[in-house]
Amino acid sequence: MFVRSIPHTYMHDSPFLHTLSAGQSLFRQGDSASCAYIIESGRIEISRSIGDASEILAILGPGDIVGEMALIEDLPRSANGTAIEPTTLRVLTRDYLQERVQQADPLLRHLLRRMSRRLRGNAPGPVHDRDHSQAVSQLQIAHDVQAGLERGEFSIHLQPVVRLGSDVVVGYEGLIRWTRPGYGAVPPSDFIPLAEQSNLILDIGRWTFQESCAHLQKLDRCGTASRDLFVAINLSARQFTDPGLFHTIDKCLREYGTDPRRIKLEVTEGILIQNFDRALSVLQRCREMGFQLALDDFGTGYSSLSYLSRLPVHMLKIDRAFVKDVATSSTARKVVQSVAGLGNALGLTVLAEGIENREDADELALLGVELGQGYLYGKAQPLDHALHQLDIEFAAA
Ligand code: C2E
Ligand code: CMP
Ligand code: CA
Ligand code: CA
Repeated sequence: MFVRSIPHTYMHDSPFLHTLSAGQSLFRQGDSASCAYIIESGRIEISRSIGDASEILAILGPGDIVGEMALIEDLPRSANGTAIEPTTLRVLTRDYLQERVQQADPLLRHLLRRMSRRLRGNAPGPVHDRDHSQAVSQLQIAHDVQAGLERGEFSIHLQPVVRLGSDVVVGYEGLIRWTRPGYGAVPPSDFIPLAEQSNLILDIGRWTFQESCAHLQKLDRCGTASRDLFVAINLSARQFTDPGLFHTIDKCLREYGTDPRRIKLEVTEGILIQNFDRALSVLQRCREMGFQLALDDFGTGYSSLSYLSRLPVHMLKIDRAFVKDVATSSTARKVVQSVAGLGNALGLTVLAEGIENREDADELALLGVELGQGYLYGKAQPLDHALHQLDIEFAAA
């Protein structure tokens, strides 16, 4: 069987590629298993032997995962897998897959286990194929994010932050972008929440931090007008429990000569739910190191005023939900006015997110909002576009 032909040294070296010609068997029902696979190209037919006959269960193609069931349940292969055209597979070792599943959220683990049992005819209840494909596709995304980080498929785009009134750019928010082969641009909402359910967000977070420091350095090297600009980095709740967080931070600051006063760390109230004291002490340490801290999506979370007064943040970012109707809705106006008033009274810089038109921008400025961000001023763009814009602005000033 093919699995036994993989040299042992490769077994822990995911991702490792294997090719099959048309008609070659990948595994047979009942085989013991040590790998799962992601199909890179070609097709694998999944069939089950019933006496002398065989029933085709599925034909799987590029992007599909195959052979995961046996590893999840530690049982023999539930079906036969045969290449029906020349096929290239990425090998996922048992350790690798089990680590992924372990890191996945409990629902995903549950769905995979139930599906696996049902396929073997001893399921406790019905499992919908939809659930299974959702679970497997989450597993695939998690795998692809990890591989994509290594392959350089991610980038940071910069969205300008301006001073309301003058529209002068004062900094940028770094927003992650993923160009996933075969899928094109994948929005962060499709993978950040998933990554946040596992330690995958720690890898993303480290990468983002490093890349943002590198961007700040490049802005300074190339941009005539960039000296005082900041770059804002989004931190997820789980990063607050990352024992390696400060190691990453120290390393990046040294490597890129970054001045922490020019980095804003954006956090949401979500960081406070699990362990308020720990989150607070991490924030305090960041503040002592010189970082600027911003409370993101303000108004959408718990927005407990007692939290706000205890959080050592410098900036409040009012969520787009309250900003978008500010010129036309008196309720939106009152909300923004009171949040801006509160922020200003606490000595915080107030920023409005998601500004899309001039009327809203003018109204926000009148209500005491100092900074703005939104499509009116620019979408998140690659570094060289940002540099180009800066040069134009500088020349015009
Ligand atoms: P966020 O931090 O609240 O980022 C603002 C989002 O609003 C961005 O979406 C941005 O493109 C979008 N936006 C900005 N201006 C406008 C506007 O005028 N109108 C509208 N309709 N939208 C606007 P994006 O880039 O898709 O990011 C979504 C979320 O993903 C972010 O929300 C943040 O929570 C998360 N995210 C993005 N990059 C990272 C990252 O590097 N690390 C972490 N942990 N999370 C990230
Ligand atoms: P495993 O049991 O390790 O080996 C056989 C593989 O075939 C199994 O994992 C799944 O990846 C796949 N498989 C089994 N049954 C089906 C099915 N009904 N539809 C799609 N794939 C299946
Ligand atoms: Ca943000
Ligand atoms: Ca936000």
